[in-house]
Amino acid sequence: MWKSMLTVLALCASSLASSPLADFALQKVLDDASPIFGPYAGRSGNRSQWMKSYSDDTLLVHMNIPGTHDSATWNYTQASQDAMKGITDLNQVVVPAPETFRCQELSLINMLDMGIRAFDLRYAFDPTNTTLIFYHSKALLSEKASVSDVIFGFYQWLDDHPSETVFLSLQYESSTALHASNDAALQMLLYNTLTSPAARKYIIQTKDRLGSLGDARGKINLLRRFDLDKLPQSYTAALPGLHFSPSLWTDNGQDIELVYNAADNLTAYIEDYYQPLTPMGSGAEENVRWKYNATVKHINKATKEHPDSLFWTFASATNTPNKPPVWPRIMALGNGTEYTPDGGVNQLLVTFLKEQTGKRVGIVMFDFFDQPAELIDIFLGL
Ligand SMILES: *[C@@H]1O[C@H](CO)[C@@H](O)[C@H](O)[C@H]1NC(C)=O
Ligand SMILES: *[C@@H]1O[C@H](CO)[C@@H](O)[C@H](O)[C@H]1NC(C)=O
Ligand SMILES: *[C@@H]1O[C@H](CO)[C@@H](O)[C@H](O)[C@H]1NC(C)=O
Ligand SMILES: *[C@@H]1O[C@H](CO)[C@@H](O)[C@H](O)[C@H]1NC(C)=O
Ligand SMILES: *[C@@H]1O[C@H](CO)[C@@H](O)[C@H](O)[C@H]1NC(C)=O
Ligand SMILES: *[C@@H]1O[C@H](CO)[C@@H](O)[C@H](O)[C@H]1NC(C)=O
Repeated sequence: MWKSMLTVLALCASSLASSPLADFALQKVLDDASPIFGPYAGRSGNRSQWMKSYSDDTLLVHMNIPGTHDSATWNYTQASQDAMKGITDLNQVVVPAPETFRCQELSLINMLDMGIRAFDLRYAFDPTNTTLIFYHSKALLSEKASVSDVIFGFYQWLDDHPSETVFLSLQYESSTALHASNDAALQMLLYNTLTSPAARKYIIQTKDRLGSLGDARGKINLLRRFDLDKLPQSYTAALPGLHFSPSLWTDNGQDIELVYNAADNLTAYIEDYYQPLTPMGSGAEENVRWKYNATVKHINKATKEHPDSLFWTFASATNTPNKPPVWPRIMALGNGTEYTPDGGVNQLLVTFLKEQTGKRVGIVMFDFFDQPAELIDIFLGL
């Protein structure tokens, strides 16, 4: 009885796969995803297959992977904030100025086509506790595009680019809305999203270990910056990917050593100094310099130490409490004045990275990764 039902289901599934309805359903999901993933059609970017030139036996920990910090913030403007006012009015006390939380300006699919392979995505419940959507702190980034929709965008892109692999970092974002909570219902929804039949096909099922490029092509490396602490331990045990428990991730750490696989003593070396501890009232230039120093120090370590371990460096930062505040854009790009004569962290890194040819720098997460334009080409040319 069960067997015959399964056969019928399998037949339905296989006929669906080739039916116009399957195409329409996929189109609907990609449309829903587009406020965060970006529109699937009409794209540009000449780095959509750069991993083709690396051999299958290349270890992922030996690769240089460009990434974006707070990837989903690319269309967080006054216009999108105004368009979502009806939703933020439901349970949000403060709606911050867009420049406080905007870290990118190109869509995820643009990033993919331009060579970005690591994505920093932060989720929380929507105001009705129904779907998982994207936030950066209090900044609601879309009510329409769910985490599940956007992950389907990655599945489709990987089907279209089977030589490539991507790293998805998922993190629960706190302080989003008045009644937001990292509760069991939210954790169950995330668990279901990451263990669906599609997820099992596209997310690498290995646990707490990074393998070779050959085994990862066409698939997602999951970086779990969350705990499922409201669910029985068996749920955590059932998830694939590398677990970076928030409890082990030192806040604002310049030199984090995070053991993600205790049995085999596998350590990730992380720099996530997102707010330079400059004296209050420091100028933009000084903040840029402090952040640049921490970034370069960590990248230098990646080029010299622990060659078989994962290095993950954030070149992104902000100093909002400072007076005057230093927004992500000013930190990354400077503010175009004599106060930041050398630009921001990105401009300084162009000069530095030119001298790292042939070296392993690991995963590096940028804000406004597309500026200056040569940054991504230099990175991929290392
Ligand atoms: C890709 O396109 C950009 C922008 O048009 C250009 O600056 C860059 O040189 C191109 N890179 C390659 C590898 O063709
Ligand atoms: C960005 O958001 C605005 C406001 O919601 C919207 O009108 C616009 O279409 C979005 N841009 C893209 C490229 O999706
Ligand atoms: C969402 O869940 C939180 C915490 O569990 C609760 O306080 C809040 O009232 C819920 N909101 C809605 C709209 O159900
Ligand atoms: C784990 O690895 C680190 C860094 O490679 C090393 O310093 C440490 O001694 C190792 N610990 C064990 C228990 O093997
Ligand atoms: C640039 O930064 C300096 C120092 O923080 C500030 O005084 C100046 O107003 C900023 N200029 C712009 C255009 O943001
Ligand atoms: C940054 O590093 C350089 C070179 O090591 C040093 O001269 C400078 O004082 C450092 N600046 C800050 C703000 O840490």
